[in-house]
Amino acid sequence: MSRPGPALISAALHAALATESEDRIIYDLAGIGERYRSLTEELPGVDVRFAMKACPVDEVLTYLVAQGAGFDAASPNEIAQAVRTGVPPRRIHYGNTVKSDRNIAEAYRLGVRDFATDSLEDVAAIATHAPGARVFCRLATSGEGALWGLSRKFGCSAADAVVILEAARAVGLSPAGLSVHVGSQQMTCDAWREAFDRIGDVLVSLRRSGILLDHVNLGGGLPALGYLDRRGNPLDPPLDKMFVVIREGVQRLREISGSELDFVMEPGRYLVADQGAIKAHVLRLSSRRQLNGEREYWLYLSCGKFNGLYEMDELQYRLAFPSHPDGEYVPAVVAGPSCDSDDAYAQEHSRVQVPRAVASGDPVWILSSGAYATSYMTQGFNGFDPLPCGWTAGEPERPAVTDDEASPPA
Ligand SMILES: Cc1ncc(COP(=O)(O)O)c(C=O)c1O
Repeated sequence: MSRPGPALISAALHAALATESEDRIIYDLAGIGERYRSLTEELPGVDVRFAMKACPVDEVLTYLVAQGAGFDAASPNEIAQAVRTGVPPRRIHYGNTVKSDRNIAEAYRLGVRDFATDSLEDVAAIATHAPGARVFCRLATSGEGALWGLSRKFGCSAADAVVILEAARAVGLSPAGLSVHVGSQQMTCDAWREAFDRIGDVLVSLRRSGILLDHVNLGGGLPALGYLDRRGNPLDPPLDKMFVVIREGVQRLREISGSELDFVMEPGRYLVADQGAIKAHVLRLSSRRQLNGEREYWLYLSCGKFNGLYEMDELQYRLAFPSHPDGEYVPAVVAGPSCDSDDAYAQEHSRVQVPRAVASGDPVWILSSGAYATSYMTQGFNGFDPLPCGWTAGEPERPAVTDDEASPPA
C-alpha cells in the first residue's frame, strides 16, 4: 500500500459529509479560520478583505469578520450583505471597476468610502455620486499563469493610472491607492513579481506628480491547493515561494513609496475552495459506444456545471465515493444532471477513475469545491435546484480523507 497522501479535508468536514443525507455544499468554518490565520501569519500586517463573490454565504462571512476580515464587495447588494455582518463600512471597499451612477450612490449611502476605478469616466461618476471618496486605481495585468486570467475587462496601463489618479485629485477625490489582480488560481511566482514591478513604476511616477498613496491592494489570486488540472493531475502551486515573493515585494514598495504604505489583499479562492465540499449522489454510471466505435463510461452526478461545479471547464474535482472504498475502477467522463452537453468534464484529455460498482443513489463527495460554487449556481436550470448550503463549526482534528482515499489519478 502506498504512503498516505496529504489530508484533503478535515475530520469535521468528513463527519458533516457523512451525516448529511441530502445534496448540499458544506463549509468547514474552522478550516476557513485556519487558512485565514495562515495567511495573516505569512503576510503580517496585510489587511484581509475577503472577496465576497467567492462565497457569499452569511455564516462564512460572519465567521470571517470574527477572525478580523473586511470585505471586497462588487455591488450594492454585496455591500448590504457585508454591512449585515456587523463589519464597519470602512472595512468594506467597492472593488468592482464596473458600476453605474446608481450603484455608486447606493454604495456611498451604505457608508462605503473606498472605490476601485480604472477610467476617467468612472472617476467623474464617483466624484459626482460619492463626493470626497477615496479611490484606488486598478492596474491591468496579463493574467498569464492563472487558470482564470481576469485580464482585459479590468485595469488600465501604468501611464493611464497616473492620469486617472491626477484627475481624481482634481475633482476632490482622494487618490489613495493602487490595485492589481494577478488572475485567479495564479500558478506562478513570476506573475507576482511582474505585478510588484508595475506597481513600483507607477508609485515612482505618482511621486513625481506629488501624489503619495496610503495603500496598495494586492487583489486575489492566491491558489487553492486541492484541485486537479484538466488532465486529472494535481495542481501544485508554489505557495510558499509566492509568499516569499509577496513579502519581498511589499518590502520593496514600502522602500520606494515615499509615504507610509498599507497593504490590503482580497483573497477569495484561497480561503474557501478547499474548505468546502459538496455532498451529491450518483445518478448513474453507464457505458455507451460512441460514433468512433469506442465504448465510453459516463458518470452522471446530481450536481454539475449549473449547480455547483461551474469551474469544471478549467479543472477536475477530486471525487470520493464513501460507499466504495475499494474495488475495480473504470475510466469515465463526469457529467452533471442537466440536458446540456457543456455540463461535463474529463471528456477531452483524460478520464476520471470511478468504482465500477457505483449505483444510482450512492453518495459522492466533491472535494475542494468551496470557491465560487454558491455564486455561480443557476436558478433551476432544467428544473435542478441550486444546492442548499450547510456548514460545520467543529474543530479540525486529524486528517480524514487523504489523497489515497479519493479517486485515483487517471
Ligand atoms: C477584484 C477582485 N478581487 C479579488 C477576487 C478574488 O480572487 P481569487 O478568488 O482568485 O482570490 C476577484 C475575483 O474575481 C476579484 O475580481
